[in-house]
Amino acid sequence: MPTPSMRKAMAAAEVADDVLDRDPTMRRLEERIAGLLGAADALWTPTGSMANLIALMSHLGRGEAFLAPQGAHVLDFELGTSAWLAGGMPRPLPHDAGPGKVSATAVRRAAAADGSYASLRPALLCLENTHNSAGGSVVAPEEHASVAAAARAARLAVHLDGARLWNASVALGVPPAALTVGADTVSVCLSKGLGAPVGSVVAGSAEFTEHARRLRKMLGGGVRQGGILAAAGLVALDAVDRLADDHTRASTLAAGLRERGWRVREPQTNIVLVDVADLPGTIAHFAESGVLAGAIGGKLRLMTHKEITDRHLQAALDRIGEVGPASTRPFGGPSGEFGRAARPVTDAPRRAE
Ligand SMILES: Cc1ncc(COP(=O)(O)O)c(C=O)c1O
Repeated sequence: MPTPSMRKAMAAAEVADDVLDRDPTMRRLEERIAGLLGAADALWTPTGSMANLIALMSHLGRGEAFLAPQGAHVLDFELGTSAWLAGGMPRPLPHDAGPGKVSATAVRRAAAADGSYASLRPALLCLENTHNSAGGSVVAPEEHASVAAAARAARLAVHLDGARLWNASVALGVPPAALTVGADTVSVCLSKGLGAPVGSVVAGSAEFTEHARRLRKMLGGGVRQGGILAAAGLVALDAVDRLADDHTRASTLAAGLRERGWRVREPQTNIVLVDVADLPGTIAHFAESGVLAGAIGGKLRLMTHKEITDRHLQAALDRIGEVGPASTRPFGGPSGEFGRAARPVTDAPRRAE
């Protein structure tokens, strides 16, 4: 949720027509993020999906394939735009180096073209840090650099989907630029954990961002007085360190769930994955008790974020304790449409006041 200071900055933002000849606040944001990521330049986009798509469109063509760790957002949650808009065929790689991670050896093997004129030519490796569906797992700088180097040696371009790169950076205690080494392009999100209402950025060389601006226009993603949105992003960047609180709370949540008999993977950032027998039933049952959870990769996914305080966490654990891990209640229930919470544990403000 946007903070009061974001709303204030949005109201006061200096703006111009970005579609015509750039908006000064958007440029400030783009330049600041390019600096943080160690890139020459960057371009604002309305969403992380568009940022990834622009990168993939610039790296891929018909007859080409791209590699990505299984469950990557570009593979499973962007409606196949990598194939039907960017023209690249997806090749998921198993997590042979740990949750969300692929090894340099696996990349080398998958990148080797078989020599046949009729085969797809691997052209891109698309990494994700943190890896959402692997439970917000973190890839360390040396692991990232060795996989990226293997890809480059095999003549693949490298895109990093860093929607939650801020979380990886805070969890590891390293600057974001330490996690982008060897990547040609990087996307990051200002929404999600950072709380801006809108906005992502895709970074790369000056040549890339010039082309990316044309691709953004092609996709209908150019916005005029976008400084109003970028202003929220600038405020969001001032609060990246706060993500450490979300990570601590995710650990507390995981420990509390384990104590109550749930099977939980130890979180590395702000995502807690839980193994449950009846996924839709458990989600519905949680929702009835005011705890909103989702499903990802066949597991229950709980997130911590800045609206979740210690008090909310305790309330959630108490209510989950009442539900119990053996929950097999059928989907639906007395809470009404879409299984929405009757009494949510959060009381996040939804209006400026
Ligand atoms: C890893 C990852 N990449 C990209 C995105 C896309 O972001 P958006 O929802 O802004 O399109 C998400 C969204 O959850 C994500 O988790």
